Amino acid sequence: MIKKINILTKENKYSIEIETNSIKKKIKNIISKNNNVIFLIDKKVFNVFQKINNYQKEKYICINCSEKIKSFNFYTKITQKVLSKGVDRKTILVAIGGGTLGDLSGFIASTLLRGIDLILIPTTLLSQVDSSIGGKNGINTNFGKNLVGTFYQPKLVIIDPLILSTLPKRELLSGYAEIIKHSIIYDKKFFNWLDKNSKNIFSLNYEVISNAIYKSILIKKQYVLKDEKEKLKNRHSRAILNFGHTFGHALETYYKYKKKLTHGEAISIGMIIASTISYKLNYLSYKDLIKIKNHFIFNRLPIMDNKMYDNKIFDIIHKDKKNIDGKINFVLIKNIGNAFLKNNINLEKIKQIIN
Ligand SMILES: NC(=O)c1ccc[n+]([C@@H]2O[C@H](COP(=O)([O-])OP(=O)(O)OC[C@H]3O[C@@H](n4cnc5c(N)ncnc54)[C@H](O)[C@@H]3O)[C@@H](O)[C@H]2O)c1
Ligand SMILES: [Zn+2]
Repeated sequence: MIKKINILTKENKYSIEIETNSIKKKIKNIISKNNNVIFLIDKKVFNVFQKINNYQKEKYICINCSEKIKSFNFYTKITQKVLSKGVDRKTILVAIGGGTLGDLSGFIASTLLRGIDLILIPTTLLSQVDSSIGGKNGINTNFGKNLVGTFYQPKLVIIDPLILSTLPKRELLSGYAEIIKHSIIYDKKFFNWLDKNSKNIFSLNYEVISNAIYKSILIKKQYVLKDEKEKLKNRHSRAILNFGHTFGHALETYYKYKKKLTHGEAISIGMIIASTISYKLNYLSYKDLIKIKNHFIFNRLPIMDNKMYDNKIFDIIHKDKKNIDGKINFVLIKNIGNAFLKNNINLEKIKQIIN
């Protein structure tokens, strides 16, 4: 079954299409309808593309993807390669890969000729439910993650859950963490549905996966449409999507993105911490806290890390670029499905609670 979500921002209109076993058909369609298409492809999914006959060899670039491609170095290298294939205003850049390739490609597309068309074909669960939605892109610097980038919406997003069949279980779980995050911040019914259906996601039931992706995108869409550039400070703020990310990002920085923890694992721990703080500050009921914890434990999402008490992590949180005047902003929850922004949280208090 095809599911379609239309996105209408102030300056753009595009659709996100979810359909199992659709990639090849859709790539062929893009090639036949456009004169100049350049593909950036994650090496791990290159076989899908290889099966499409007759595409000119010189029009694709195959990339070994990981966080390291989100760098100035790769940005320069890949941009030059794209330019060498001949780029004009009608060129379409198509990215087939996970969130790292999507983030790099978005930045390249937005800067080439001050913006050429971009089509995203996300191939990890995380990129299907999160990074390919909302138009943020970027690369990392020595000073921190995603510090250089633009807001740039794609012309189309094509999602094919079947591509997840080759994804390692740990990466699947990492994407699932963002799905459960969407349910906790916005939709209790969806949380309960996931509670019943999560095992079907991990056993790759494509119908259930499609539903989960669809629901998840609708939730992210709400926040993106109300606050595309993350300017609001109320419960509609796009920053609500950072639930679990304050602590999660600090853990990732602590481990220097060495993949000791995947992004999803880091934010899972962050979500448990944010939920616990919500409970300790009397916003969240004990019943809801336990419900969340049990769901995480049942699905093997980590709820703690033995380094999470390290003072260095608090130093990292303290230095976070998102703090204003040294005050920490945290996303907390009042119950499952209802998140809000809590400004001015005292770091000492958080330390106490975690300890
Ligand atoms: N722009 C945004 O709004 C946004 C939101 C969330 C996350 N992100 C970014 O997304 C990135 C993480 O994305 P990710 O988790 O997709 O990482 P990733 O792109 O590194 O992919 C994870 C691994 O899976 C491999 N892979 C991709 N598709 C595969 C498939 N179908 N089968 C087998 N292997 C496959 C990749 O080669 C890589 O080794 C981070 O850099 C994060 O900052 C961006
Ligand atoms: Zn995230």
